[in-house]
Amino acid sequence: MTDRNGRGPADSPETLRERALASLSTARERTALLTSCLDDHELTAQHSPLMSPLVWDLAHVGNQEELWLLREVGGHEALRPEIDGLYDAFEHPRAERPSLPLLPPGEARRYAAEVRGRVLDLLEGAAFADSPFTADGFVFGMVAQHEQQHDETMLITHQLRRGPAVLTAPDPEPAPAHGGPAEVLVPGGPFVMGTSDEPWALDNERPAHPVDVAPFFLDTAPVTNAAFLAFMEDGGYHEPRWWRPEGFAHLRARGVKAPSYWRREGGQWLRRRFGAVEPVPPDEPVLHVSWYEADAYARWAGRRLPTEAEWEKAARHDPATGRSRRYPWGDEEPAREHANLGQRHLRPAPAGSFPAGRSPLGVGQLIGDVWEWTSSDFLPYPGFAAFPYREYSEVFFGTEYKVLRGGSFAVDPVACRGTFRNWDLPVRRQIFSGFRTARSALPERVGPADGVPDGGAA
Ligand code: AVJ
Ligand code: FE
Repeated sequence: MTDRNGRGPADSPETLRERALASLSTARERTALLTSCLDDHELTAQHSPLMSPLVWDLAHVGNQEELWLLREVGGHEALRPEIDGLYDAFEHPRAERPSLPLLPPGEARRYAAEVRGRVLDLLEGAAFADSPFTADGFVFGMVAQHEQQHDETMLITHQLRRGPAVLTAPDPEPAPAHGGPAEVLVPGGPFVMGTSDEPWALDNERPAHPVDVAPFFLDTAPVTNAAFLAFMEDGGYHEPRWWRPEGFAHLRARGVKAPSYWRREGGQWLRRRFGAVEPVPPDEPVLHVSWYEADAYARWAGRRLPTEAEWEKAARHDPATGRSRRYPWGDEEPAREHANLGQRHLRPAPAGSFPAGRSPLGVGQLIGDVWEWTSSDFLPYPGFAAFPYREYSEVFFGTEYKVLRGGSFAVDPVACRGTFRNWDLPVRRQIFSGFRTARSALPERVGPADGVPDGGAA
């Protein structure tokens, strides 16, 4: 078979078992790393009303694992039915979680470990073929991705936390001098967006469907701090004409004048990063900007954000074969030389890094480094079916949320691929968000479809 993303025949149960085990173990190691470096007080404290206490994430990943793997797949009874409500994200908004009778850190760890122990027993005898739920090990992959998503969430909490640094990681290498073009032309025409055969793709990435994209130019790297500073120094934060009205109002209300965590001191811009203060590095992709800031910068630059379809075409379309790849560099799983993923660095790599990870057209750093805002609302693909639960994606579809693509340095490869879709409110900037810009190669059609604001200056 060649229709499984070029990956040959279906994987054997042994291969699926190993992949599930490795993915679950990697996730748990990272969870342990993120929660073992803080004392019980810091684990139960709320570092920001935007986030849960870390001890909530810890038990929540265990509880979701119990729900999906032990109860749903294994048919087990609930281990602690009384705690389900506490760890249901829809029952309690983040701001109110610290006042719940949560399991204390030691108990939360023991609970998650007990669930995991039973899951490993279950995995021993897993058949993987009984239902669409277990075929290809999907539900194990879903649970591993879920824990990794919370590991990124927990890293966001670490960044919000005040106090001395507790996490360390080596810095990425300097970027090779490349001197390549700042933008490339992505030719117009149809490509296949989304996937129907990527085994662990989540419901919102499905199904594969053709999308016709008009030709456009796209930045070959994310927008850097230096470029963003030029916008700031040109008075960008004070010029309503660059901003969506609601974005400008929000900015005014909050007194926002720079990306999150930046402050000006002695004529220079500094930033706080995981407890350390350092000069803002000019050649690194800008981080912690909202959709409104990204959108305003793009308009100031005489450009715009790419649509989600444009982003995916640039990341996956192989002009030589017409096929959509799993990643910009091909179908192979991400390796160190392709992308900055998995929290191995606690910052994005400089623009121009990872030449081996570029797309056939030469677009770099699409995967890893910073989540990239797109101009698109988070909407279902034609033929979408919620699976296995409506609360993962479906309840968020609509015009309230904007799509981010490509993953950040904080996301694990298991939860990042060319089709992966993330979403958040356009005001959010505690997430590891950045962006790149685009421009149409043909004259813009005037119409409501592409998000040009009323009286837009673009
Ligand atoms: C896909 C990152 C928006 O964190 O809200 C975690 C992932 N869903 N638990 C989120 C998720 C359920 C989700 N995002
Ligand atoms: Fe969750």
